[in-house]
Amino acid sequence: MSATHQLRCTTCGARIAGDAVRSDFRCPDCNGLYEVIYPWSQGWSAEKTASAEVRLPNPGGMRHLWQERKTSTMPVDQSGVWRFRELLPIVRDVERVVTLREGNTPLYEMPRSAELAGVDWLLAKHQGMNPTGSFKDTGMTAALSVAVERGFQWVACASTGNTSAAMAAYAARAGLRCIVFIPEGKIAWGKLSQSMDYGALTVQLKTDFDGCLKLLTKLVQQFPIYLLNSVNPYRLEGQKTPAMEIVEQMEWQVPEHLVVPGGNLGNSSALGKGFLEMKHLGLIQRVPKISVIQAQGANPLYRWFGDENREMKPVKAETRATAIRIGNPASWRKASRVIEETGGWCEQVTEQEIALAKAEIGAEGVGCEPASAVTLAGLKKLVAAGRVTREERVVLVLTGHTLKDPQYTIDYHKGELLTAAEMAGETEAERESHAALRKPPLVLEADEAVVLRALEERMATANAAGTQETPGTLK
Ligand code: F0G
Repeated sequence: MSATHQLRCTTCGARIAGDAVRSDFRCPDCNGLYEVIYPWSQGWSAEKTASAEVRLPNPGGMRHLWQERKTSTMPVDQSGVWRFRELLPIVRDVERVVTLREGNTPLYEMPRSAELAGVDWLLAKHQGMNPTGSFKDTGMTAALSVAVERGFQWVACASTGNTSAAMAAYAARAGLRCIVFIPEGKIAWGKLSQSMDYGALTVQLKTDFDGCLKLLTKLVQQFPIYLLNSVNPYRLEGQKTPAMEIVEQMEWQVPEHLVVPGGNLGNSSALGKGFLEMKHLGLIQRVPKISVIQAQGANPLYRWFGDENREMKPVKAETRATAIRIGNPASWRKASRVIEETGGWCEQVTEQEIALAKAEIGAEGVGCEPASAVTLAGLKKLVAAGRVTREERVVLVLTGHTLKDPQYTIDYHKGELLTAAEMAGETEAERESHAALRKPPLVLEADEAVVLRALEERMATANAAGTQETPGTLK
């Protein structure tokens, strides 16, 4: 077995060498998903843990090393994933990894959103600030580097758009060929254009994401194609590194709460693994409560938590937050464990709540794609239910850049996003919030007097409303 790591089935506990895994990344005995474990992981081996050979990495030394690497000129050190390579020794030669200098994303203070949600201090970890505009880059550098090491020529994924954009970019960097399966007509243009730009073979299937993944899972068993969906446990090793960045950016303090969007449920699983491993290694003393937010129209995990028989029933997913339009999430077991183990919650939010939260995050000068905005919408509900208290420090994980789905934003500001039936249910306060946030473009004659008059009018209205006039500087 590989000396650096093994794969352990998260359902039956069976362990195999990394290169012995089936092409669909499922356990042959129970069909469960694997996780990567290391000699220092909990449960690797009772006798061995005591031996010097598998001594836990030294927390103080690692913190120092990770910080120091930020000033290095080596690509592998400049990556916000491989900077933490002691915690993901998944490749033999780390200098040959495929990196676009992913990670090292900002942690923004969100004072206006904090006020709206009813907490004192709110932070946003903006994973949309990655090279291809989403958190998927952190996972892709990890799993695609493994694909290269194992000698694959072709890689593939099913995607709602961000995984495919990331995979196409990293495959292009590595000189691999790649195939993307996406649901026809149900992905944002920004994402579709990326996979074409980076040279992927893009296949639009007349089905949804769940149908795409099902088909691809069959194909990889017949062709030597490396599957890069988040069922591939190496993806999650890269996606756990924002957990390290968050505590590093908070000077090794741990937030009380982390709020993550839920689609196929790989990301919440990965972040949970990151925090739990750090605690096991003594880098932190406790973990944040991790809560997962789903769109109401794509809420199988939310339903599972509410089902007294605890049966996972796939749903026919429908939401404008197309990134999380997933009805049969592959990693639901892993994610539900993370929620339970950390003491978090699973919440759902409506289309109206998502639209409002997205506009609010945009108005704070940060912006994100619709699927990321479920975090703020969900936080409001968690606070209202008393599950998050005012003084708790909360981090929202913003998973995608606002430019991923500009059509959504334009439709919202023009008042064309929500249907009349959806808007009919709005409260007076919501109507007022939308009215203050909506900024449809003015179309004017190119005439000085006309423009001046229009501007005067707008400035007078804005000054009278007194909103956002002296907002202060945001970090
Ligand atoms: N946010 C964004 C922007 C996403 O693209 C995704 C998933 C999620 C949240 C949910 O993360 O699946 O790990 O629970 N996008 C995948 C894709 C499915 O194909 O790009 P998850």
